[in-house]
Amino acid sequence: MNIAIVIGIKTDSISPDRFPEWLQDIPQSLYNKSKENWGNGDYGLASDAGIAYYLQKFSKHNISILTKKDIQLKEFNKYDVIIGLYDPYYYANDTNNPNSYKKYNQIIQQTSAIFLQPLSLQKFVLNKKLYTDTLQQHKIPVVETISFSIRNNMNVDTMIQKINKQCLLWECQSFITKPQPGGFGIGFKKWDLQKINKNKQSFSSYVKSIQSQVRIEKPLLLIQKFVPEFERFYEVRTYWLNGKYSHSIGTIIDPNSLGTSGFEEVKFAYPENEYDEDIFNTYDDVPEIIEQKLVNRLKKIGKQVCQIIPKDKTKEPFLLRIDFGCCLDNQKICRDYFVNEIEYVPNLFPEYSTHKDVLKLVGNSIIKKINDIV
Ligand SMILES: Nc1ncnc2c1ncn2[C@@H]1O[C@H](COP(=O)(O)OP(=O)(O)O)[C@@H](O)[C@H]1O
Ligand SMILES: [Mg+2]
Repeated sequence: MNIAIVIGIKTDSISPDRFPEWLQDIPQSLYNKSKENWGNGDYGLASDAGIAYYLQKFSKHNISILTKKDIQLKEFNKYDVIIGLYDPYYYANDTNNPNSYKKYNQIIQQTSAIFLQPLSLQKFVLNKKLYTDTLQQHKIPVVETISFSIRNNMNVDTMIQKINKQCLLWECQSFITKPQPGGFGIGFKKWDLQKINKNKQSFSSYVKSIQSQVRIEKPLLLIQKFVPEFERFYEVRTYWLNGKYSHSIGTIIDPNSLGTSGFEEVKFAYPENEYDEDIFNTYDDVPEIIEQKLVNRLKKIGKQVCQIIPKDKTKEPFLLRIDFGCCLDNQKICRDYFVNEIEYVPNLFPEYSTHKDVLKLVGNSIIKKINDIV
């Protein structure tokens, strides 16, 4: 079997002093293919390059490493299976060109190789409005979302009118906007309805800036009620490997660092059963603990989500992340978490998951997937 892995995300990195033992002899040439610049001459190894090295070291197959210059039909046809950790959406953002997305997609459709993750899953996940509505139809808790098509001449007055109507129904004064596909924290913004009604200037400029972003797949501007708990409760990111629960990470993103393109300020937490005091005491900020009871509840919902996502003949995705936010605005005393997001090539936070060796976990999951395909 000839296997290829496409890398080059240059983010989601791990610093050399946190490398697991198997990673310590990674060749510089592979390191250089996907590393994150931390400034002052420091670089972290991006998660995709780490996983690629794991596959080269531990799989019995021949593993080739591809980068964006290799996204060509002739090249892809040399392989039986291609793992696209650097995916079409990444490619479009990296090259700042929506045509890159189309080109990569066409090659995936035309190639004789099996490409993972499957296009059907990618398209579903890149359409947050679609999957939010789909989950809602399956009675899975989500935040109600309305949307506007991102076009060249969006009518700001009509938008404000509709938002006013909706906020009346939602009984809220603050709402948020986020473009889809988002994913890089881009374009997230919180708004005060009264202020917009007095003066629409800043909302107009925002809409203009959204129009100028790379548009792919189904470009929508999503509107939700502002959920204040995001700033106080951990968003629980649950990881699923070949359809099975693996582990979770809780994050609170500092709201001041959201929607700007730089690094987000993040506070971390881990489930009781996955918490390793010895390791976490070596972190700069010692993380908090997430109650196991909550995680167990989320695992149940996550399983249902796994059943709903589209699958091709390769079945369960080798990797999936389901993010849960807190909380739905209802009368229940017990807080109801909702599904905020699904990702098919998520950030793994290898720097903050040292107790789990996530690169190895995902590497093994890919190896298992490849063996199943054989
Ligand atoms: N309805 C909301 N109310 C308040 N904060 C939100 C809301 N939706 C998202 N956020 C904040 O914005 C962040 C990014 O939004 P998310 O939906 O995860 O998009 P992406 O990760 O694709 O940029 C979330 O992690 C959360 O901190
Ligand atoms: Mg997110």
